[in-house]
Amino acid sequence: MALERTLAIIKPDAVKMGVSGKIIQRIEDEGFKIVGMKKIWMTKDVAKGFYYVHKEKPFYEALTDFMSSGPSIVMVLEKENAIKDWRKLMGATNPADAEEGTLRKEFGKNIDNNAVHGSDAPETAAFEISYFFSQIELV
Ligand code: TYD
Repeated sequence: MALERTLAIIKPDAVKMGVSGKIIQRIEDEGFKIVGMKKIWMTKDVAKGFYYVHKEKPFYEALTDFMSSGPSIVMVLEKENAIKDWRKLMGATNPADAEEGTLRKEFGKNIDNNAVHGSDAPETAAFEISYFFSQIELV
């Protein structure tokens, strides 16, 4: 299978907790290559644009408040099956349902503060990567 890219975010809760380094280590240990990485503080508008697909959902306001509440680390990860494998490493959306050994089980507090993000399909990955990164930032 060809190499695939996905967008990963270490969300503000995990950055605040000081566990970014542990999460990045897991990413490398699991065989992902980090082809882009930067620390950003999303404005409310940037967060709203990123999660536009959820604009009708009841959690949209709280989610975009949370995502703009502090710095995040955004990354582009590359490997075979990167999209599925990164979601598997993250675990279920609600940390209470996440399997042992997943990042959300270890670092997520609840569904609002679930530590990490990952694209869910090739089309979303393409949109999300281009939302935060230009071509020369992917190396
Ligand atoms: P979603 O895309 O469904 O999950 P995932 O991040 O696993 O792809 O939802 C996006 C984020 O919205 C999710 O990480 C946390 C938040 N969220 C809530 O706060 N409440 C909810 O009921 C859901 C479904 C999501």
